[in-house]
Amino acid sequence: MQHLIAPSILSADFTNLEKEIKFLNQSEADWIHIDVMDGHFVPNLTFGFPIIKQLKKHAEKPFDVHLMITQPERYLKEFKNAGADILTVHYEACSHLHRVVQEIKALGMKAGVSLNPHTPVHLLENIIHDIDLVLIMSVNPGFGGQAFIENSYKKIQQTKELIQKTKSNAMIEVDGGVDASNAAKLIDSGADILVAGNFIFGSNNRDQAIMQLKQLKF
Ligand code: DX5
Ligand code: ZN
Repeated sequence: MQHLIAPSILSADFTNLEKEIKFLNQSEADWIHIDVMDGHFVPNLTFGFPIIKQLKKHAEKPFDVHLMITQPERYLKEFKNAGADILTVHYEACSHLHRVVQEIKALGMKAGVSLNPHTPVHLLENIIHDIDLVLIMSVNPGFGGQAFIENSYKKIQQTKELIQKTKSNAMIEVDGGVDASNAAKLIDSGADILVAGNFIFGSNNRDQAIMQLKQLKF
């Protein structure tokens, strides 16, 4: 399968998000990655339902919503109503992960589970069959523009092995510090989706930045 690119609007121009979404519509990007932070699970705040709902009116690509919030089970329906297509929760934020995953799917969304850099992949052993996506954090969540953590390649490989061993259909997404220097190795390690914020929105040629991540040569 050709890998997908999911630009993170965390690094977009917040004063003109309609324009940013329309840029992504006409670009080669596949999904739109939306980072929701609660100032509790992570030391930063972003945005919630009203803004996502407004953005959805202009978007022509799936909304890949990454929840960095505690007790995400409180808001699953609201995120569905706001327009989430893929909803990813953190392993570290859920006491009853199995139930949360089932609820996300029952609402008609794809269910993702994210692992912080310190969380071992084997903890997904008993949930991998139920989920559509594993999100490997390659920085500590909370901020855009941080340096990529090298151990992430190994975690992607371990996730790939777990998926193959268990014949799961889950896709592997990687998020944090992704750029043209590490993208090929990430795909080679087993990543299916590359999230990138700063590399795309910080570039003076965003279309080219997306293409650089998309058309990788090995
Ligand atoms: C970090 C977020 C990321 C962030 C990635 O907590 O989950 O999605 O936007 O940004 P870059 O690509 O700049 O590291
Ligand atoms: Zn993210």
